[in-house]
Amino acid sequence: MNPGARLLILGKQGAGKGTQALRLSRHYVVPHISTGDTLRQAIRSGSELGREARRYLDSGELVPDQIVIGMVRERLTRPDTSHRGFVLDGFPRTVAQAEALSTILSPKGLHLAIDLEIDTTSVLTRLAGRRVCADCGANYSVVDNPPRVPGLCDVCGGEVVQRDDDTEAAIRRRLELYERETAPLIAWYDSRGLLARIDALGSPDAVTERVVAVVDRRILRRPGS
Ligand code: AP5
Repeated sequence: MNPGARLLILGKQGAGKGTQALRLSRHYVVPHISTGDTLRQAIRSGSELGREARRYLDSGELVPDQIVIGMVRERLTRPDTSHRGFVLDGFPRTVAQAEALSTILSPKGLHLAIDLEIDTTSVLTRLAGRRVCADCGANYSVVDNPPRVPGLCDVCGGEVVQRDDDTEAAIRRRLELYERETAPLIAWYDSRGLLARIDALGSPDAVTERVVAVVDRRILRRPGS
């Protein structure tokens, strides 16, 4: 039986966190929890959270810790995640978020934090080619994964557009914040014996194979954990 998994994905913008998190959530049959997707859904719905979050997302700034920590805490206390696990995508992004997550997950903790390693030139190429469905958030690339009908989502038929924060200025700001706030988490998880570094270049299938091999080894070493 597939035992589930408790994973999070680190990596700079465009490393493929969303792409891999979705595949891993299907593989391990656990929920994919993306703080970016949750915030974009809140913006689309016009909720108070969405109105508050919009100004941060559009300019590439991080949403304040207390907002995202509250969102993730609420999601991780639902039974589907507490029983089988989860794949966290885009959380944590600051040391304060990592510390809060460690408390939320205690005593079970994580199986692994996966760091998708990639150079900045490659992520800039990927982000320039990224397109998303404005309705369901499905991800495409004009380079090698376009929708079957140009401009229309394969999944729901919605309009396929460029993300509002995939502008040059917002990408530059997101990458600066990654280096300052999020890159220190690599050493943070490494020092706790929880880090796996994965080469994020190559096809999405090749990257998934690398991640699954490392996660399976870790779960086999800690059966029933
Ligand atoms: P979020 O939505 O998480 O965006 P991000 O971190 O900027 O990451 P991206 O979605 O840009 O990249 P990705 O690594 O997921 O790559 P993807 O798989 O799409 O966050 C957005 C905003 O929300 C933040 O800026 C912030 O304001 C706020 N926020 C979210 N979480 C927060 C938190 N914890 N704290 C505070 N604020 C928070 O892939 C990119 C492209 O490459 C796609 O086109 C894809 O098709 C393609 N691709 C993927 N893999 C491959 C491959 N192997 N080969 C070729 N192409 C590939």
